[in-house]
Amino acid sequence: MNAMNGFTETAVNVDHSIEVFRSQFPVLERKVHLASNARGAMSTHVLDSYHSYLDSWANEGTAFTGWLDQQEAFRSAVASLIGSSTAEVAVTASVTAGLASLLSGIDWQSEGRRVIVADDQNFPSVMYLLHAQARHGVEVRVVPAADSEAAIAEFEAAIDTDCKLVCVSHVSFRNGRRLDLARLSAVAHRAGAWLVVDDYHCSGTRVIDVDADGIDVLTSGTAKFLLGSPGVAFLYVRESLIPELHPTITGWFAQRDPNDMQIAEHREADDARRFQVGSTPVPAIYGSRAGIEVIASVGLRRIQSRISSLTAKAIDAVESAGFVTDTPRNGEHRAGLVAIGAKRPEEAVRELAARDILVTTRSGNIRTAWHYYNTEQDLAALMNALEDIGGLLLPRQAI
Ligand SMILES: Cc1ncc(COP(=O)(O)O)c(C=O)c1O
Repeated sequence: MNAMNGFTETAVNVDHSIEVFRSQFPVLERKVHLASNARGAMSTHVLDSYHSYLDSWANEGTAFTGWLDQQEAFRSAVASLIGSSTAEVAVTASVTAGLASLLSGIDWQSEGRRVIVADDQNFPSVMYLLHAQARHGVEVRVVPAADSEAAIAEFEAAIDTDCKLVCVSHVSFRNGRRLDLARLSAVAHRAGAWLVVDDYHCSGTRVIDVDADGIDVLTSGTAKFLLGSPGVAFLYVRESLIPELHPTITGWFAQRDPNDMQIAEHREADDARRFQVGSTPVPAIYGSRAGIEVIASVGLRRIQSRISSLTAKAIDAVESAGFVTDTPRNGEHRAGLVAIGAKRPEEAVRELAARDILVTTRSGNIRTAWHYYNTEQDLAALMNALEDIGGLLLPRQAI
C-alpha cells in the first residue's frame, strides 16, 4: 500500500494559504507556538470532534457502537498516514503500552536471539521497558546515536545474528536528529533482526512509508505534531510478523471478538488488534482522528517541505545571532525540531513564555518545534526574544 494514500492531495477542497490554515488554531492569535514536539496546537476541527463525543454521550447515552466505529476509523486513518493496511494497526493508550504488549509477545525462552540493540536517543520510557527484559535473559546493547550520520556505523558494529530487535527513536527528543530508517533497516535485516521505530517526534512532520523504509514495527502518539489529543497512540506491526507474536499483556480488546463473553480461553485476534488491551480511550480517539484529518487536509509532502524550509531558516538565524544549535544542518537529518544550546535552559523557557513564546527544554537545550502553521514572523519574534535573553544561552565561541 502506498504511504500517501489520501495524504498528499485529498478530495477535501482546502485553501492552503497559511493564514487560512492558522485561523483554525485559536491559540495562534495569542502565542508564538513552537512546542508542537510536546503538544500540538488545538484546531477548531479537533474541538468540534470532542464536542461530537460529548454530544453523543449526553444525548444518546450508550453510543457504544458509534464509539467502536470511531476506533476503526482512527485505525484506518493511521494506516493511510503510514502506508500500512488497517489490519496492521493496533490502537493503544500510549507508546509505552503498545511496546510493552509487543515485547510480551516474544517468547524469549525459546527465542534463539536474545539481544536488543537500542538507540541512546530513545525516550527513557522505552529504555526502561527494554532493560526490564533482562529478567528474560535479554542483553540490551546501547548504541551512541546522537549524530545521524555516525550512528549508522555504530549500529552496524552492534548488530549481529544474536540480535532480535533494533529499537530506535526516528527523531531524537533531545536534539532533533533524524535517523535514515531505510539504511538502518537494511543493516538490521541483513542480520535477520527487526527494526522497531518510535516515531513520536516525527509523525506529522514528514512523509513516512513503512514498506519503503523497511520498518517492521512502528509506534507513535497523536498529541505532538499529529495535532491530536493526548491519551491515544498506535502500534503498527508488519503483517507477516503478527502470527509469531503472542502478547501476554492482553485483554478483551485483543480478542478475535471482544463481545464474545466466553472465559474458557484466550482467543487472540488474527490481526494487530492482538496488541490492544482493555477499553480504548474514546474521547482521545475522537480528538486524534480529527488531528490526523487536519494533517491530511494539507498533505505530508507539503508539510515536510514547509518544515524543512522553516527549520533551515531557524538554524541560520540562531547561528548568525551568535548562538549554538545542536540539530543537524543537513535537512535530511532532521525533522521539526531545532535545539538551541543554553546555559540556563529552564530559565530561558520561562523568559520566553513570559513573552508568549512557547518552547520546551531537554538535555540542556531549549527545543523549538516548527510545524506547518509556523511562520517567518514566529522566527522573527523568537530571534528578538533570544537577543533579550542572550545571557541564558550558550554563545557560539563557547564550543
Ligand atoms: C519520542 C517519545 N517516545 C515515547 C514517549 C512516551 O510516550 P507515552 O507516554 O505515550 O508512552 C515520548 C513522550 O513524550 C516521546 O517523546
